[in-house]
Amino acid sequence: TFPTAPGSLLTPTGLGRRGFLALLDLAAELKEAKRARRERPVLTGRNIALVFEKNSTRTRCAFEVAAYDQGAHVTYLGPTGSHLGREESVADTARVLGALYDGIEFRGFAQETVEELARHAGVPVWNGLTDEWHPTQMLADVLTMREHRPGDVEAISCCFVGDGRGNIARSLLATGAMLGMDVRIAAPAELLPPEALVKEARHAALSSGARVTVTSDPAAALDGADFVYTDVWVSMGEAEAEWDRRVPLLTPYRVTAELMAATGRPGTRFLHCLPAVHDTTTELGRRIHQNYGLAGAEVTNEVFTSAASVVFQQAENRMHTIKALLVTALGE
Ligand code: CP
Ligand code: NVA
Repeated sequence: TFPTAPGSLLTPTGLGRRGFLALLDLAAELKEAKRARRERPVLTGRNIALVFEKNSTRTRCAFEVAAYDQGAHVTYLGPTGSHLGREESVADTARVLGALYDGIEFRGFAQETVEELARHAGVPVWNGLTDEWHPTQMLADVLTMREHRPGDVEAISCCFVGDGRGNIARSLLATGAMLGMDVRIAAPAELLPPEALVKEARHAALSSGARVTVTSDPAAALDGADFVYTDVWVSMGEAEAEWDRRVPLLTPYRVTAELMAATGRPGTRFLHCLPAVHDTTTELGRRIHQNYGLAGAEVTNEVFTSAASVVFQQAENRMHTIKALLVTALGE
């Protein structure tokens, strides 16, 4: 086995505060350079493997466009596209891909899988989402927050409402605590983040100056928040039957216009990692409507399409931040 290669990103806190913020500065520069058509490719001739056990729109496309813009090549291996997890072990797959490629993105179920890949690949490995963490999403989210609230990252307050045990809530808690932000999680008692994680966040806050709030009272958590963030109520890989349990639990945490108003601030923005259940035009949205009488689930269409919603800017920022990650890890 190898030590995890420098430039890897396995968890939201993996870069440390300074490394995280340095990537955001680079991402902002790269975004500007692309807009001005003066981007300089530094990944010419590099090869990157994109391994997905779960579906993706943004993460896959962000890695692909970022790589192509910088002159690198990618190979996409989808949920059924390789031997991984069926005929071949994670360690053997890692050895093969590590010999052929300069870096590996992995999205899947167990966090242990991406860590095992990193132990055996000998090249940088990037976590493109697991059941536990979504670190590259955090880069895009904090860049988006900074674009709307320039200045000290410590001055930003972000309130997540919804499933506090999911990869997004967990990642926001860890990221906000590391960066010194005012980070709040509002979730029903049954879906609060794991106690150990909250403890770690509170511990990190001692040195970063973060304010960490974890509560089942959405009104208290929302007061004065710059950003309201939510995620799908049932994540990829979770049982379909969870919808029956979670809809009643999470309906009080649904992001409606009234909930947005509870921040008491006119300028509060709405964030969502996407994909979102906000109307009845998708197969999932129709099923939620049919089964529970809700048009949209975690967020209403009204909020999703409002001027406060910056979700597509967030989605675009996936690409700029992932590019910064690739350039930092593999650039000349
Ligand atoms: N936000 C996000 O990770 O989206 P995808 O599932 O489309 O990659
Ligand atoms: N929590 C969601 C995030 C999707 C980007 C999931 O894991 O499905």
